[in-house]
Amino acid sequence: MKIQPSVRYSHTILSQLVQNGDTVVDATVGKGNDTEFLSQLVGENGKVYGFDVQAEAINYTKQRLDDKNLSSNVTLFNTGHENIEKLVDGPINAAIFNLGYLPGSNKDIITKPDTTLTAIKACLDKLEVNGVVVLVLYYGHDGGPQEKDAVIQYAQSLDQKAFSVMQYQFINQVHCPPILLAIQKNSN
Ligand SMILES: C[S@@+](CC[C@H](N)C(=O)[O-])C[C@H]1O[C@@H](n2cnc3c(N)ncnc32)[C@H](O)[C@@H]1O
Repeated sequence: MKIQPSVRYSHTILSQLVQNGDTVVDATVGKGNDTEFLSQLVGENGKVYGFDVQAEAINYTKQRLDDKNLSSNVTLFNTGHENIEKLVDGPINAAIFNLGYLPGSNKDIITKPDTTLTAIKACLDKLEVNGVVVLVLYYGHDGGPQEKDAVIQYAQSLDQKAFSVMQYQFINQVHCPPILLAIQKNSN
């Protein structure tokens, strides 16, 4: 067995907690890796809401889901995740954020501390007890360290009675190894 890198471990956590019929959010759709994974996890009776500011990302992912017959339980929004509060109906069981920029795309379009925190807070408000928000933090680009620090500082400030927060990272790797945070709701 190999210790899983952060991105893969984010899926392991989701696969252990998300169930058929659940409602979940992909806050940074990109090329749709997480959207596709979530669509399969929640199944026909579940619901996935996806957000990305880039039309290119939304269109690419829509086609990807259509090609695999996975579109029926997914609603994609070509808008920022700061709109989760008003666009996502009802409680959610999980959310995933992959922060940073879309590899192979415009490196100037990055997630930013203010809007990321607004979105995380909206997800935590909507989260069911035992639900989880997972975040994969990439921070090797301009603006990345500031976002990483803001998100970790916020996550550390959460009341431990209400939330359990885990941080996971290889600490002997070069080039800013991604950090995984998992925030589980303990009580309302
Ligand atoms: C690291 S990529 C996501 C990768 C994606 N999970 C995948 O499977 O390919 C980050 C994405 O966040 C998007 N993004 C930037 N600001 C955003 C915002 N305010 N709301 C939603 N998405 C945003 C970017 O356009 C980019 O596609």
